[in-house]
Amino acid sequence: MANILCIGAGYVGGPTMAIVAKHCPHHRVVVVDSNATRIAAWQSADLPIYEPGLEEVVLGARDRNLFFSTEVNRHIAEADVIFVSVNTPTKSFGQGAGKAADLQFWEKTARQILENSTSPKIVVEKSTLPVRTAEAMEYILNSNTRGLHFDVVSNPEFLAEGTAIRDMEQPDRVLVGGRETPSGQKAVEVISEIYANWVPKERIIATNIWSSELSKLAANAFLAQRVSSINAIAAICEKTEAHVVEVAHAIGLDRRIGPNFLKASIGFGGSCFQKDILNLVYLCEYYGLYEVANYWEQVIKMNDHQQSRFVSNMVSTMFNTVAGKRIALFGVAFKANTSDTRESPALNVCRALLEERAELVLTDPHALANARADLGALAQRITFEPDPYVAAKGAHAIALLTDWADYAKLDYSQIYQNMVKPAFIFDGRNLLNHRQLHEVGFNVHAIGKPPLTHSANNGYAGNQRF
Ligand code: NAD
Ligand code: UGA
Repeated sequence: MANILCIGAGYVGGPTMAIVAKHCPHHRVVVVDSNATRIAAWQSADLPIYEPGLEEVVLGARDRNLFFSTEVNRHIAEADVIFVSVNTPTKSFGQGAGKAADLQFWEKTARQILENSTSPKIVVEKSTLPVRTAEAMEYILNSNTRGLHFDVVSNPEFLAEGTAIRDMEQPDRVLVGGRETPSGQKAVEVISEIYANWVPKERIIATNIWSSELSKLAANAFLAQRVSSINAIAAICEKTEAHVVEVAHAIGLDRRIGPNFLKASIGFGGSCFQKDILNLVYLCEYYGLYEVANYWEQVIKMNDHQQSRFVSNMVSTMFNTVAGKRIALFGVAFKANTSDTRESPALNVCRALLEERAELVLTDPHALANARADLGALAQRITFEPDPYVAAKGAHAIALLTDWADYAKLDYSQIYQNMVKPAFIFDGRNLLNHRQLHEVGFNVHAIGKPPLTHSANNGYAGNQRF
């Protein structure tokens, strides 16, 4: 039996360790966090994050071989293997502000491990980090004067929120990067053996430590780049009466391109895509690779443009003013099946519409509490309403911002009847049946599709085709 510790009980630490505990009943798994409220929630019936299938896995292992605690120092002392899954946000101050990763939580953890260790340990980078971070971690840990040896291994996490349990149960691959020394290779073996309890061996890939660190940033950059690419095509579609869904389908059938991550949207959100690309941009600049940095930065610029384009389109369609108009925003989570609103494009749309002095009603099945917290003082100017029917009552427009499947199942003729006419619907996710909505009476504006309107010029006024 090994004592496995995870520092950081967030969106990654909690679910990943629950899966490890489920598949490794012979190991003792403890997840610690300095945030006592979060730990209390992991110990309660009301888990701190909404994630399909998570509750069952946690309840199955909790208090058997899965434990949550705030006693970071004590558990460090007892651990054989320590996964570090603390937050690594974009730095907001000083050198590299706005781009570099803020490694303060990371470094603090390294020092805590150093101070509280009385035996050698394997320390696993689970957080997403700049390439060569392991070097700093090793340097700090092995600076001890007690003769303790620490091996640092990179094991980035590729789960996506909303599908985290499935992603961890059946990962496309597990990367384990280590030093090419005998003890480094032994550490890689130990970590690989943990995963081998449920992941087929051929999917557990041992790499050099820097490749592992860089692969995580590269994977997120490639995924985000696809979203920005299809959103760029969506913008052309809107000018030319092509349909982005048809274009995505057509290009996705090419096996070299493939169908995934080609859904045009109001842009990507979430705590990682933007942060990790900014981090990549910063690294490129650090190494003097300015053209490479510009290339990746464009993925973010396109994402920002997509959100502002969506809002401009709303305003111009609604006769160039939304001031005082009630607008119902359907969804505020950054994607479906999560309560997470970090970097949600819906929040940016929300802020931009407030600038235009719209009267906003926000609805979402799981993310309203997080949205309220994220919006801070602006929250006072917004109505938060869990019921979409109530949210849309008396509204001039609906903007669908999160792809919750339930939004496709609503009775839109009932919703239409209770709205101000002409009633507009802006589908930022291409989730709804646009022809049916048009038949009901809505003026329908969807990302990357020609508008379906009831006005003589079909919504092309001020948006003339060349
Ligand atoms: P999170 O903010 O949800 O959780 C991090 C937790 O670490 C917090 O609860 C915080 O209190 C705790 N923490 C910070 N410093 C600590 C310390 N010194 N001692 C104890 N606890 C401490 O973050 P997250 O979303 O779980 O992401 C963690 C890392 O995983 C990030 O590097 C992120 O880029 C990466 N990642 C995230 C996802 C995702 O879907 N969220 C997926 C893959 C990788
Ligand atoms: C993403 C990656 O998919 C994970 O592999 C990675 O581990 C994680 O980031 C991370 O490092 O944090 P996540 O952000 O949870 O996962 O969710 P995604 O499914 O990737 O969606 C990200 C954003 O892109 C969402 O806002 C989503 O709505 C948007 N998206 C995604 C689109 O607009 N179109 C698509 O076709 C796909």
